[in-house]
Amino acid sequence: MSIKKIAISNFRCFDNLNLDFSELNNFIHGANGSGKTSILEALYFCSTGRSFKSSNKNLCIQNNKDAFKIQLETVNNNMIRILKESKRSITYEIDENKATSIDLFRALPSTLLDNKTFSMFADTPKYRRKILDRCLMASDKNYSKDFFAFHRSLKQRNAALKFKRLTNIDMWSEIFISTGGSISEKRNDFFEQTKKKFFTFADDLNDKRLLEIINSLEIVFDKGWPKDLSLKEVLDSNKDIDQRKTTTFLGPHRADIKFLTKGSDIKYILSRGEQKFMSILWCFSMHKTLSDFYSVKPFLIIDDIHSELDEDFYVELINFLPKTGNQLFFSDINDPFNSKIKDQLKELKKFHVEQIT
Ligand SMILES: Nc1ncnc2c1ncn2[C@@H]1O[C@H](COP(=O)(O)OP(=O)(O)OP(=O)(O)O)[C@@H](O)[C@H]1O
Ligand SMILES: [Mg+2]
Repeated sequence: MSIKKIAISNFRCFDNLNLDFSELNNFIHGANGSGKTSILEALYFCSTGRSFKSSNKNLCIQNNKDAFKIQLETVNNNMIRILKESKRSITYEIDENKATSIDLFRALPSTLLDNKTFSMFADTPKYRRKILDRCLMASDKNYSKDFFAFHRSLKQRNAALKFKRLTNIDMWSEIFISTGGSISEKRNDFFEQTKKKFFTFADDLNDKRLLEIINSLEIVFDKGWPKDLSLKEVLDSNKDIDQRKTTTFLGPHRADIKFLTKGSDIKYILSRGEQKFMSILWCFSMHKTLSDFYSVKPFLIIDDIHSELDEDFYVELINFLPKTGNQLFFSDINDPFNSKIKDQLKELKKFHVEQIT
């Protein structure tokens, strides 16, 4: 689903801002502190009901104001409204009906690439799981159901382990196994599709340094327990350890995606620019998988696209942008769009943001 326009008031540095977007490519540029990230943050808010900068939503209210409002219209004329008053809970509306943040994400899914995503390899397994789970939640209602039931069973099982309630351990283990098995299978399917896309994209790369990295790259889905055992077998064989440590040691809550080069984690080997490129390529591949196999068309946000990339890496990246086929919002301090790059991006609309002081 594409976004037609957005109206923002008293959000971050903006009093009132109205923007009409291209259905395809939107580029926001301006100096440090001009408000580029804030515009992307407002778009992300309409998709997820939250900020990607802070969990405290009051920080998004413009200084000395009491509330912020965001109103977004899609090309299908659906209307999303968000209101946050400083002393009240945030409210979401879709077409004037009250909505939850999950409703927002289903109506207007997004993929975010910001500074945290760029360093996803240096981040925790929890963060990499979150990126994967977010995609699956956008594409499959049953995934969300199983996901929340699984985490509940994990919490309850750990409580039962702590208080040595043996019958409760068995009861929660059953739910843990059924829901955990289901989410793990779906994660694995999504991972395999994404991996295929990743290497297909990589076939089109020209830069020798990138090709060398890709050729040595091994990407592995670690489901959180040994490959050759079922989840039931793991819980059975770990029963003593779990009881001693009063926590569930192995399972889907320990899953991770590992990126290895010559057997070592790429976070210890690749430069920051190389890691940023690989993380963008991976997220692009997830994004494309959602579109091609799960019929979800998220819009894509890339903040500070150019930072830490040299010109060759940047040009390679710009060549990828049109391949998503989805609406794109990306930002940079400069406007480096010479005509060669511009030709790659059809229907490119540029926005120059300035703060008037
Ligand atoms: N609640 C707020 N009220 C008013 N101004 C705010 C608020 N929160 C942040 N700002 C200011 O908004 C401005 C824009 O911030 P933003 O992060 O959007 O800039 P940017 O264009 O992305 O800059 P950079 O290129 O450095 O990433 C900054 O000067 C920041 O201090
Ligand atoms: Mg910024």
